[in-house]
Amino acid sequence: MKPGYVKIAHVSDIPENGMKMFEVNGEEILIVNVERGFYAFHNNCPHMGYPLYFGELDGKKIRCGFHYNEFDATTGESSGPATQEPLRKYKLEIHDSAIYINI
Ligand code: FES
Repeated sequence: MKPGYVKIAHVSDIPENGMKMFEVNGEEILIVNVERGFYAFHNNCPHMGYPLYFGELDGKKIRCGFHYNEFDATTGESSGPATQEPLRKYKLEIHDSAIYINI
């Protein structure tokens, strides 16, 4: 594996069209499994820091449970209404069904 990447989960840990939170080096990372792809974001909403894990995944949108801001679950882009700030996204790679992220 390339330098800087750490193993965070197995692909079977995250249900299809679901999301799960993992802790790596004291950072909370949200792994999203949507449309047969895996994406990694920082777990804190860029609006006021609410943990996104307590929000919901609705199709391709992650909706924060605090002020209901919506984010694209593949790019992390915000579509409002509370903030235009995107999610912090991590590079992710899959090898032998293990998920690695660059942190
Ligand atoms: S903390 Fe997420 S929308 Fe406000």
